[in-house]
Amino acid sequence: MKTYLVTGGAGFIGSNFIHYMFEKYDKDIRIINVDALTYAGNLENLKEVSSRDNYTFVKADICDKDAISKIFEENDIDHVVHFAAESHVDRSIRNPEVFVQTNVLGTAVMLNCAKASWELEGGGFKEGKKFLHVSTDEVYGSLPEDGGYFYETSPYEPHSPYSASKASSDMLVKAYMDTYKFPANITNCSNNYGPYQFPEKLIPLIINNALNGKKLPVYGDGKNVRDWLYVRDHAKAIDMVIQKGRLFETYNVGGHNEKQNIEIVNIILETLQEMLPDSDPRKANVTKDLITYVEDRKGHDRRYAIAPDKIKAEVGWEPETMFKEGIRLTIKWYFEHEDWMKNVTSGDYQNYYRTMYEAS
Ligand code: NAD
Ligand code: DAU
Repeated sequence: MKTYLVTGGAGFIGSNFIHYMFEKYDKDIRIINVDALTYAGNLENLKEVSSRDNYTFVKADICDKDAISKIFEENDIDHVVHFAAESHVDRSIRNPEVFVQTNVLGTAVMLNCAKASWELEGGGFKEGKKFLHVSTDEVYGSLPEDGGYFYETSPYEPHSPYSASKASSDMLVKAYMDTYKFPANITNCSNNYGPYQFPEKLIPLIINNALNGKKLPVYGDGKNVRDWLYVRDHAKAIDMVIQKGRLFETYNVGGHNEKQNIEIVNIILETLQEMLPDSDPRKANVTKDLITYVEDRKGHDRRYAIAPDKIKAEVGWEPETMFKEGIRLTIKWYFEHEDWMKNVTSGDYQNYYRTMYEAS
């Protein structure tokens, strides 16, 4: 039985990954989830798995060397799946330091503890170990509007404090692979959407605001392009890279699904109109009049697009969920989890929202 140490498993992608893995492997794996439970971490995301014998939650900060090495001392970890990070670009523009702390120093602690636990006395590493570092396409910077893709060989050119911190963490992983032949892979993925996403990110923010008749803030001219991937497809890609990815390689993961932000907002409005019954009073709120163009994000990357050719050729993964289907599944999930949304938007979220969008 393989033991997975998942960091940041109480967040959006981490919790979807844990659900995916238990659905696929059931009792044949063990998962230890280590998460500091920042504003983005929510144990409600994992309530269906929390009573499993083969699941353990440890509340700890990945920067806490003692706590992390204790986990490695007490468990024979086969695979680390490293999601834990500060993940929101807008927050990084306002408060960069915590991004360096968690994303860079936290990754260094994770690498060091895994290395210490996995290395053999005579050199090399125990068989079958792997560290999967979950990263982002934002490390590659921005593409021109009229073409081009990010490849694994594209130069790193991060622009935001968030992407600079993720690029730094990728470089640390690469340095461990080059220097020590540390058994790792890096995956650089495009924008995810789906269940359990915190409503600071575009898609859940627009769904929640539209249902509440609130303005829909679109940055700049609304024509920035992102390549959207349904989160379950990302979870599958990570599992497949752990199983089949060649050690020391980087794999780009993307949805073949480029859309301008304004297109996303319009699709959400149209899909909400289709899905809400006529008897639902919220249906009348859901109109294009809510769209409000606001000040652009500082240093806003114009376009991201992944060519997931390498992961398809080497690992056999490709995106499966078409956006039309994925957005319906996502909206359905938010309809069915109104309490989840109420809980995460109470308290601190209100302060964040006021400060972030006060001018709009
Ligand atoms: P998220 O913000 O939803 O979740 C992050 C999780 O990490 C939370 O549970 C939080 O409590 C935990 N965490 C934060 N700081 C921690 C610390 N110091 N110690 C322990 N736990 C800590 O993020 P997400 O959107 O699920 O992203 C997960 C990973 O995937 C990140 O590394 C991110 O860079 C990467 N990624 C995200 C996307 C996306 O579209 N969301 C796309 C590509 C890559
Ligand atoms: O590309 C992968 C990255 O995708 C991940 O590494 C990040 O962790 C994740 O947050 C995401 O970053 P983005 O900045 O692309 O996602 P976000 O949802 O914040 O914004 C998507 C686009 O929508 C972006 O062009 C900014 C715009 N936007 C966002 C918000 C929150 C708006 O126009 N209005 C908004 O209110």
